[in-house]
Amino acid sequence: MSAAERLTVALGRRSYDIVVGSGLIAEAGALLAPVLRQKRVVIVTDETVAGLHLARFAASLAAAGIRHQAVAVPPGEASKDFAHFARLCEDVLALGIERATAIVALGGGVVGDLAGFAAATLLRGLDLVQVPTTLLAQVDSSVGGKTAIDSIHGKNLVGAFHQPALVLADIDALATLPRRELLAGYAEVVKYGLIRDRGFYEWLEPDGAALVAGDAVARQQAVRRSCALKAEIVAADERETGERALLNFGHTFGHALEAATGFGDGLKHGEAVALGMQLAFDLSARLGFCKAEVAERVRRHLAAVGLPTSPAGLAGGTLTAAALQALMRKDKKVSDGRVTLILARDIGDAFICRDVAPPALADFLAAALEPGRNSR
Ligand code: NAD
Ligand code: GLY
Repeated sequence: MSAAERLTVALGRRSYDIVVGSGLIAEAGALLAPVLRQKRVVIVTDETVAGLHLARFAASLAAAGIRHQAVAVPPGEASKDFAHFARLCEDVLALGIERATAIVALGGGVVGDLAGFAAATLLRGLDLVQVPTTLLAQVDSSVGGKTAIDSIHGKNLVGAFHQPALVLADIDALATLPRRELLAGYAEVVKYGLIRDRGFYEWLEPDGAALVAGDAVARQQAVRRSCALKAEIVAADERETGERALLNFGHTFGHALEAATGFGDGLKHGEAVALGMQLAFDLSARLGFCKAEVAERVRRHLAAVGLPTSPAGLAGGTLTAAALQALMRKDKKVSDGRVTLILARDIGDAFICRDVAPPALADFLAAALEPGRNSR
Protein backbone atom coordinates (compact mmCIF):
# COMPACT_ATOMS: atom_id res chain seq x y z
CA MET A 1 0.00 0.00 0.00
CA SER A 2 1.32 3.50 -0.89
CA ALA A 3 1.31 6.45 1.52
CA ALA A 4 -1.32 9.14 0.93
CA GLU A 5 -0.29 11.82 -1.55
CA ARG A 6 -1.32 15.49 -1.55
CA LEU A 7 -1.65 17.66 -4.65
CA THR A 8 -2.74 21.29 -4.91
CA VAL A 9 -5.10 22.94 -7.35
CA ALA A 10 -3.47 26.36 -7.56
CA LEU A 11 -6.23 28.96 -7.77
CA GLY A 12 -4.92 31.77 -5.59
CA ARG A 13 -7.15 32.37 -2.56
CA ARG A 14 -9.38 29.49 -3.71
CA SER A 15 -6.55 26.95 -3.92
CA TYR A 16 -7.24 23.56 -2.39
CA ASP A 17 -5.68 20.18 -1.85
CA ILE A 18 -6.55 16.79 -3.27
CA VAL A 19 -5.52 13.94 -0.97
CA VAL A 20 -5.22 10.54 -2.67
CA GLY A 21 -4.62 7.37 -0.68
CA SER A 22 -5.97 4.42 1.28
CA GLY A 23 -7.97 4.63 4.52
CA LEU A 24 -8.89 8.29 4.04
CA ILE A 25 -12.58 7.85 4.88
CA ALA A 26 -11.59 6.48 8.29
CA GLU A 27 -9.32 9.53 8.79
CA ALA A 28 -11.73 12.05 7.27
CA GLY A 29 -12.44 13.92 10.51
CA ALA A 30 -8.79 14.82 11.06
CA LEU A 31 -8.29 15.66 7.37
CA LEU A 32 -11.39 17.86 7.17
CA ALA A 33 -10.95 19.74 10.46
CA PRO A 34 -8.32 22.24 9.17
CA VAL A 35 -10.52 23.40 6.25
CA LEU A 36 -13.83 23.74 8.13
CA ARG A 37 -15.02 27.16 9.30
CA GLN A 38 -17.42 25.52 11.73
CA LYS A 39 -17.21 22.07 13.30
CA ARG A 40 -20.37 21.11 11.51
CA VAL A 41 -21.12 19.57 8.12
CA VAL A 42 -24.08 18.24 6.17
CA ILE A 43 -23.18 15.08 4.28
CA VAL A 44 -24.96 14.61 0.95
CA THR A 45 -24.74 11.07 -0.35
CA ASP A 46 -26.79 8.52 -2.26
CA GLU A 47 -28.62 5.55 -0.74
CA THR A 48 -26.13 2.98 -2.09
CA VAL A 49 -23.04 4.82 -0.87
CA ALA A 50 -24.76 5.54 2.46
CA GLY A 51 -25.19 1.80 3.04
CA LEU A 52 -21.54 1.09 2.22
CA HIS A 53 -19.46 4.00 3.50
CA LEU A 54 -21.49 6.52 5.53
CA ALA A 55 -21.13 4.88 8.96
CA ARG A 56 -17.32 4.83 8.76
CA PHE A 57 -17.23 8.39 7.46
CA ALA A 58 -19.61 9.64 10.17
CA ALA A 59 -17.65 7.83 12.92
CA SER A 60 -14.48 9.54 11.81
CA LEU A 61 -16.16 12.96 11.91
CA ALA A 62 -17.54 12.21 15.36
CA ALA A 63 -14.07 11.22 16.57
CA ALA A 64 -12.80 14.64 15.45
CA GLY A 65 -15.69 16.42 17.21
CA ILE A 66 -17.37 17.47 13.94
CA ARG A 67 -21.19 17.62 14.15
CA HIS A 68 -22.80 16.00 11.15
CA GLN A 69 -26.16 15.18 9.60
CA ALA A 70 -26.73 13.29 6.38
CA VAL A 71 -29.19 13.56 3.49
CA ALA A 72 -29.33 10.66 1.01
CA VAL A 73 -30.75 10.89 -2.51
CA PRO A 74 -31.64 7.90 -4.72
CA PRO A 75 -28.64 6.62 -6.70
CA GLY A 76 -28.36 7.44 -10.39
CA GLU A 77 -28.46 10.30 -12.89
CA ALA A 78 -32.20 10.84 -12.33
CA SER A 79 -31.31 12.54 -9.02
CA LYS A 80 -29.68 15.37 -10.94
CA ASP A 81 -33.04 16.87 -11.91
CA PHE A 82 -34.75 20.02 -10.66
CA ALA A 83 -37.15 18.09 -8.42
CA HIS A 84 -34.39 16.27 -6.53
CA PHE A 85 -32.32 19.44 -6.37
CA ALA A 86 -35.24 21.35 -4.82
CA ARG A 87 -35.93 18.56 -2.32
CA LEU A 88 -32.27 18.39 -1.36
CA CYS A 89 -32.08 22.14 -0.78
CA GLU A 90 -35.24 22.09 1.35
CA ASP A 91 -33.96 19.10 3.35
CA VAL A 92 -30.63 20.80 4.02
CA LEU A 93 -32.29 24.10 4.95
CA ALA A 94 -34.61 22.22 7.32
CA LEU A 95 -31.52 21.22 9.29
CA GLY A 96 -31.00 24.87 10.25
CA ILE A 97 -27.65 25.35 8.54
CA GLU A 98 -25.53 28.48 8.88
CA ARG A 99 -23.19 30.17 6.37
CA ALA A 100 -20.15 28.49 7.95
CA THR A 101 -21.68 25.00 7.70
CA ALA A 102 -19.97 22.96 4.99
CA ILE A 103 -21.56 20.51 2.57
CA VAL A 104 -19.72 17.21 2.09
CA ALA A 105 -20.43 15.30 -1.13
CA LEU A 106 -19.85 11.61 -0.34
CA GLY A 107 -20.44 9.59 -3.50
CA GLY A 108 -19.96 9.48 -7.25
CA GLY A 109 -20.23 12.23 -9.82
CA VAL A 110 -24.00 12.47 -9.45
CA VAL A 111 -23.76 13.30 -5.75
CA GLY A 112 -20.76 15.57 -6.38
CA ASP A 113 -22.54 17.59 -9.07
CA LEU A 114 -25.85 17.79 -7.19
CA ALA A 115 -24.41 18.54 -3.73
CA GLY A 116 -21.88 20.88 -5.32
CA PHE A 117 -24.61 22.92 -7.00
CA ALA A 118 -26.58 22.99 -3.73
CA ALA A 119 -23.44 24.23 -1.94
CA ALA A 120 -22.97 26.90 -4.62
CA THR A 121 -26.47 28.26 -4.13
CA LEU A 122 -27.63 27.55 -0.55
CA LEU A 123 -27.38 30.75 1.53
CA ARG A 124 -25.59 32.16 -1.60
CA GLY A 125 -22.68 29.78 -1.17
CA LEU A 126 -21.47 27.23 1.37
CA ASP A 127 -18.07 25.58 1.59
CA LEU A 128 -17.87 22.23 -0.14
CA VAL A 129 -15.76 19.13 0.48
CA GLN A 130 -15.69 16.39 -2.13
CA VAL A 131 -15.25 12.78 -0.98
CA PRO A 132 -15.52 10.92 -4.31
CA THR A 133 -16.29 7.20 -4.12
CA THR A 134 -16.30 6.22 -7.82
CA LEU A 135 -13.22 6.11 -10.04
CA LEU A 136 -14.89 8.61 -12.36
CA ALA A 137 -15.46 11.06 -9.52
CA GLN A 138 -11.96 10.56 -8.10
CA VAL A 139 -10.22 11.30 -11.40
CA ASP A 140 -12.55 13.90 -12.82
CA SER A 141 -15.79 15.25 -11.40
CA SER A 142 -14.65 16.01 -7.82
CA VAL A 143 -11.83 18.25 -9.06
CA GLY A 144 -12.20 21.56 -10.88
CA GLY A 145 -15.39 23.05 -9.45
CA LYS A 146 -17.93 22.24 -12.15
CA THR A 147 -21.31 21.57 -10.52
CA ALA A 148 -24.60 21.08 -12.33
CA ILE A 149 -27.99 19.49 -12.67
CA ASP A 150 -29.77 18.35 -15.82
CA SER A 151 -32.59 20.09 -17.68
CA ILE A 152 -35.16 18.59 -20.03
CA HIS A 153 -33.05 20.35 -22.68
CA GLY A 154 -29.91 18.42 -21.82
CA LYS A 155 -27.33 17.29 -19.35
CA ASN A 156 -25.50 19.62 -16.96
CA LEU A 157 -27.18 22.70 -18.41
CA VAL A 158 -27.91 24.40 -15.07
CA GLY A 159 -24.97 24.81 -12.75
CA ALA A 160 -22.15 26.89 -11.36
CA PHE A 161 -18.41 26.87 -10.93
CA HIS A 162 -17.91 26.25 -7.22
CA GLN A 163 -14.50 24.96 -6.16
CA PRO A 164 -14.28 22.62 -3.17
CA ALA A 165 -12.15 23.40 -0.13
CA LEU A 166 -10.72 19.86 -0.14
CA VAL A 167 -10.97 16.63 -2.12
CA LEU A 168 -10.42 13.28 -0.38
CA ALA A 169 -10.02 10.40 -2.83
CA ASP A 170 -9.97 7.20 -0.78
CA ILE A 171 -8.78 4.40 -3.08
CA ASP A 172 -10.29 1.82 -0.69
CA ALA A 173 -13.79 3.08 -1.53
CA LEU A 174 -13.32 1.65 -5.03
CA ALA A 175 -13.25 -1.88 -3.60
CA THR A 176 -17.07 -1.90 -3.40
CA LEU A 177 -17.59 -0.39 -6.85
CA PRO A 178 -19.13 -2.69 -9.49
CA ARG A 179 -16.78 -3.53 -12.38
CA ARG A 180 -18.93 -1.71 -14.92
CA GLU A 181 -18.65 1.52 -12.90
CA LEU A 182 -14.91 1.05 -12.57
CA LEU A 183 -14.58 0.65 -16.31
CA ALA A 184 -16.67 3.75 -16.90
CA GLY A 185 -14.27 5.69 -14.67
CA TYR A 186 -11.30 4.12 -16.40
CA ALA A 187 -12.40 5.79 -19.65
CA GLU A 188 -11.78 9.17 -18.01
CA VAL A 189 -8.34 7.97 -16.84
CA VAL A 190 -7.43 7.02 -20.42
CA LYS A 191 -8.67 10.46 -21.51
CA TYR A 192 -5.83 12.21 -19.67
CA GLY A 193 -3.22 10.10 -21.43
CA LEU A 194 -4.86 10.65 -24.79
CA ILE A 195 -5.16 14.43 -24.51
CA ARG A 196 -1.96 15.35 -22.76
CA ASP A 197 0.34 12.61 -21.48
CA ARG A 198 1.59 9.95 -23.87
CA GLY A 199 3.85 8.42 -21.18
CA PHE A 200 0.84 7.92 -18.90
CA TYR A 201 -1.12 6.29 -21.74
CA GLU A 202 1.81 4.00 -22.47
CA TRP A 203 1.83 2.96 -18.80
CA LEU A 204 -1.93 2.32 -18.95
CA GLU A 205 -1.73 0.12 -22.04
CA PRO A 206 -0.08 -2.78 -20.19
CA ASP A 207 -1.23 -1.90 -16.62
CA GLY A 208 -4.82 -0.68 -17.13
CA ALA A 209 -6.34 -4.15 -16.88
CA ALA A 210 -4.69 -4.75 -13.47
CA LEU A 211 -5.96 -1.39 -12.28
CA VAL A 212 -9.51 -2.29 -13.28
CA ALA A 213 -9.14 -5.74 -11.70
CA GLY A 214 -8.24 -4.28 -8.30
CA ASP A 215 -4.53 -3.43 -8.05
CA ALA A 216 -4.62 -0.73 -5.34
CA VAL A 217 -1.14 0.63 -6.08
CA ALA A 218 -1.97 1.03 -9.78
CA ARG A 219 -5.29 2.66 -8.85
CA GLN A 220 -3.62 5.19 -6.59
CA GLN A 221 -1.01 5.96 -9.23
CA ALA A 222 -3.69 6.46 -11.89
CA VAL A 223 -5.88 8.65 -9.66
CA ARG A 224 -2.88 10.76 -8.59
CA ARG A 225 -1.64 11.28 -12.16
CA SER A 226 -5.15 12.04 -13.48
CA CYS A 227 -5.76 14.56 -10.69
CA ALA A 228 -2.35 16.18 -11.28
CA LEU A 229 -3.16 16.63 -14.97
CA LYS A 230 -6.61 17.98 -14.22
CA ALA A 231 -5.25 20.32 -11.52
CA GLU A 232 -2.74 21.73 -14.00
CA ILE A 233 -5.41 22.38 -16.64
CA VAL A 234 -7.93 23.86 -14.18
CA ALA A 235 -5.29 26.14 -12.64
CA ALA A 236 -4.48 27.46 -16.13
CA ASP A 237 -8.09 27.87 -17.32
CA GLU A 238 -10.63 27.61 -14.50
CA ARG A 239 -13.64 28.90 -16.49
CA GLU A 240 -12.95 26.96 -19.69
CA THR A 241 -12.14 29.86 -21.95
CA GLY A 242 -9.39 27.82 -23.62
CA GLU A 243 -7.46 24.65 -22.89
CA ARG A 244 -9.89 23.27 -20.26
CA ALA A 245 -12.06 22.35 -23.23
CA LEU A 246 -9.54 19.56 -23.90
CA LEU A 247 -11.00 17.78 -20.85
CA ASN A 248 -14.15 17.39 -22.92
CA PHE A 249 -12.31 15.03 -25.26
CA GLY A 250 -14.87 12.48 -26.44
CA HIS A 251 -17.66 14.30 -24.58
CA THR A 252 -19.43 16.07 -27.46
CA PHE A 253 -19.98 12.72 -29.16
CA GLY A 254 -20.47 11.04 -25.76
CA HIS A 255 -23.14 13.41 -24.40
CA ALA A 256 -25.07 13.09 -27.67
CA LEU A 257 -24.94 9.29 -27.42
CA GLU A 258 -26.06 9.46 -23.77
CA ALA A 259 -28.98 11.69 -24.77
CA ALA A 260 -29.87 9.36 -27.64
CA THR A 261 -29.98 6.40 -25.27
CA GLY A 262 -32.00 8.23 -22.61
CA PHE A 263 -29.29 8.91 -19.96
CA GLY A 264 -30.08 5.57 -18.42
CA ASP A 265 -28.29 2.39 -17.48
CA GLY A 266 -28.06 1.35 -21.14
CA LEU A 267 -25.04 3.57 -21.66
CA LYS A 268 -23.11 4.98 -18.71
CA HIS A 269 -21.39 8.36 -18.94
CA GLY A 270 -17.90 6.81 -18.95
CA GLU A 271 -18.92 4.28 -21.60
CA ALA A 272 -20.23 7.12 -23.74
CA VAL A 273 -16.93 8.95 -23.22
CA ALA A 274 -15.03 5.84 -24.39
CA LEU A 275 -17.16 5.73 -27.55
CA GLY A 276 -16.70 9.46 -28.00
CA MET A 277 -12.92 9.26 -27.66
CA GLN A 278 -12.79 6.51 -30.25
CA LEU A 279 -15.00 8.56 -32.58
CA ALA A 280 -12.70 11.55 -32.06
CA PHE A 281 -9.67 9.49 -33.06
CA ASP A 282 -11.48 7.92 -36.00
CA LEU A 283 -12.60 11.35 -37.24
CA SER A 284 -9.09 12.75 -36.71
CA ALA A 285 -7.71 9.93 -38.87
CA ARG A 286 -10.40 10.39 -41.50
CA LEU A 287 -9.65 14.12 -41.74
CA GLY A 288 -5.91 13.45 -41.97
CA PHE A 289 -4.98 14.94 -38.57
CA CYS A 290 -3.60 11.65 -37.24
CA LYS A 291 -2.49 8.30 -38.65
CA ALA A 292 -5.13 5.55 -38.93
CA GLU A 293 -2.86 3.21 -36.94
CA VAL A 294 -3.06 5.59 -33.94
CA ALA A 295 -6.87 5.33 -33.94
CA GLU A 296 -6.55 1.54 -34.18
CA ARG A 297 -4.11 1.49 -31.26
CA VAL A 298 -6.64 3.35 -29.09
CA ARG A 299 -9.41 0.97 -30.20
CA ARG A 300 -7.30 -2.04 -29.20
CA HIS A 301 -6.69 -0.73 -25.69
CA LEU A 302 -10.29 0.32 -25.00
CA ALA A 303 -11.56 -3.03 -26.27
CA ALA A 304 -8.92 -4.99 -24.31
CA VAL A 305 -10.10 -3.58 -20.98
CA GLY A 306 -13.76 -4.11 -21.92
CA LEU A 307 -14.92 -0.64 -22.98
CA PRO A 308 -17.18 -0.18 -26.02
CA THR A 309 -15.59 1.22 -29.20
CA SER A 310 -18.46 1.39 -31.70
CA PRO A 311 -21.83 3.17 -31.44
CA ALA A 312 -23.36 0.85 -34.07
CA GLY A 313 -26.51 -0.79 -32.71
CA LEU A 314 -27.07 1.70 -29.86
CA ALA A 315 -30.67 2.74 -29.14
CA GLY A 316 -31.84 -0.49 -30.77
CA GLY A 317 -30.06 0.44 -34.02
CA THR A 318 -32.54 3.27 -34.66
CA LEU A 319 -30.08 6.13 -34.19
CA THR A 320 -29.43 8.17 -37.33
CA ALA A 321 -26.50 10.44 -38.16
CA ALA A 322 -28.89 13.40 -38.47
CA ALA A 323 -30.36 12.78 -35.01
CA LEU A 324 -26.90 12.39 -33.46
CA GLN A 325 -25.66 15.55 -35.16
CA ALA A 326 -28.71 17.47 -33.90
CA LEU A 327 -27.93 16.29 -30.36
CA MET A 328 -24.29 17.33 -30.77
CA ARG A 329 -25.44 20.85 -31.64
CA LYS A 330 -26.89 21.13 -28.10
CA ASP A 331 -23.38 20.96 -26.65
CA LYS A 332 -22.32 23.86 -24.42
CA LYS A 333 -19.30 24.49 -26.66
CA VAL A 334 -21.40 25.26 -29.75
CA SER A 335 -20.48 28.71 -31.00
CA ASP A 336 -22.41 30.53 -33.76
CA GLY A 337 -24.21 27.24 -34.42
CA ARG A 338 -20.96 25.40 -35.09
CA VAL A 339 -19.93 22.34 -33.08
CA THR A 340 -16.52 22.54 -31.40
CA LEU A 341 -14.75 19.19 -31.37
CA ILE A 342 -11.67 18.04 -29.55
CA LEU A 343 -9.59 16.07 -32.04
CA ALA A 344 -6.10 14.57 -31.85
CA ARG A 345 -2.90 14.65 -33.88
CA ASP A 346 -1.46 11.74 -31.92
CA ILE A 347 -1.69 10.08 -28.52
CA GLY A 348 -1.11 12.85 -25.96
CA ASP A 349 -1.69 15.62 -28.50
CA ALA A 350 -5.32 16.77 -28.56
CA PHE A 351 -6.47 20.10 -29.95
CA ILE A 352 -9.63 22.19 -30.24
CA CYS A 353 -11.13 22.09 -33.73
CA ARG A 354 -13.91 24.46 -34.81
CA ASP A 355 -13.90 23.82 -38.50
CA VAL A 356 -15.23 20.38 -39.22
CA ALA A 357 -17.77 21.03 -41.99
CA PRO A 358 -21.26 19.78 -41.03
CA PRO A 359 -21.60 17.57 -44.17
CA ALA A 360 -18.25 15.90 -43.42
CA LEU A 361 -19.39 15.25 -39.85
CA ALA A 362 -22.72 13.86 -41.08
CA ASP A 363 -20.95 11.51 -43.45
CA PHE A 364 -18.55 10.34 -40.74
CA LEU A 365 -21.38 9.71 -38.26
CA ALA A 366 -23.38 7.75 -40.81
CA ALA A 367 -20.38 5.49 -41.44
CA ALA A 368 -19.76 5.07 -37.69
CA LEU A 369 -23.38 4.12 -36.99
CA GLU A 370 -23.51 1.72 -39.92
CA PRO A 371 -19.97 0.39 -40.37
CA GLY A 372 -20.77 -1.70 -43.50
CA ARG A 373 -22.14 1.31 -45.38
CA ASN A 374 -20.09 3.04 -48.09
CA SER A 375 -19.43 6.68 -47.33
CA ARG A 376 -20.37 9.32 -49.88
P1 NAD B 1 -22.76 7.93 -10.05
O1 NAD B 1 -22.52 9.01 -9.10
O2 NAD B 1 -24.15 7.70 -10.51
O3 NAD B 1 -22.20 6.59 -9.44
C1 NAD B 1 -22.36 5.39 -10.15
C2 NAD B 1 -23.06 4.31 -9.29
O4 NAD B 1 -22.10 3.81 -8.36
C3 NAD B 1 -24.22 4.81 -8.47
O5 NAD B 1 -25.22 3.82 -8.50
C4 NAD B 1 -23.67 4.93 -7.06
O6 NAD B 1 -24.64 4.72 -6.06
C5 NAD B 1 -22.65 3.82 -7.05
N1 NAD B 1 -21.50 4.01 -6.15
C6 NAD B 1 -20.82 5.15 -5.91
N2 NAD B 1 -19.75 4.88 -5.16
C7 NAD B 1 -19.77 3.56 -4.89
C8 NAD B 1 -18.92 2.70 -4.18
N3 NAD B 1 -17.79 3.13 -3.63
N4 NAD B 1 -19.26 1.39 -4.12
C9 NAD B 1 -20.38 0.92 -4.74
N5 NAD B 1 -21.21 1.68 -5.43
C10 NAD B 1 -20.90 3.01 -5.51
O7 NAD B 1 -21.91 8.10 -11.39
P2 NAD B 1 -20.42 8.57 -11.70
O8 NAD B 1 -20.01 7.76 -12.85
O9 NAD B 1 -19.57 8.62 -10.49
O10 NAD B 1 -20.63 10.08 -12.15
C11 NAD B 1 -21.34 10.40 -13.30
C12 NAD B 1 -21.80 11.83 -13.18
O11 NAD B 1 -20.68 12.69 -13.06
C13 NAD B 1 -22.60 12.31 -14.37
O12 NAD B 1 -23.74 12.98 -13.93
C14 NAD B 1 -21.66 13.31 -15.05
O13 NAD B 1 -22.33 14.33 -15.71
C15 NAD B 1 -20.88 13.83 -13.88
N6 NAD B 1 -19.56 14.37 -14.22
C16 NAD B 1 -19.24 15.60 -13.76
C17 NAD B 1 -18.01 16.14 -14.01
C18 NAD B 1 -17.63 17.47 -13.44
O14 NAD B 1 -16.56 17.99 -13.77
N7 NAD B 1 -18.43 18.03 -12.57
C19 NAD B 1 -17.06 15.41 -14.75
C20 NAD B 1 -17.42 14.14 -15.20
C21 NAD B 1 -18.67 13.62 -14.93
N1 GLY C 1 -14.93 17.17 -16.86
C1 GLY C 1 -14.59 18.33 -17.62
C2 GLY C 1 -14.12 19.48 -16.82
O1 GLY C 1 -14.05 19.40 -15.62
O2 GLY C 1 -13.79 20.49 -17.36
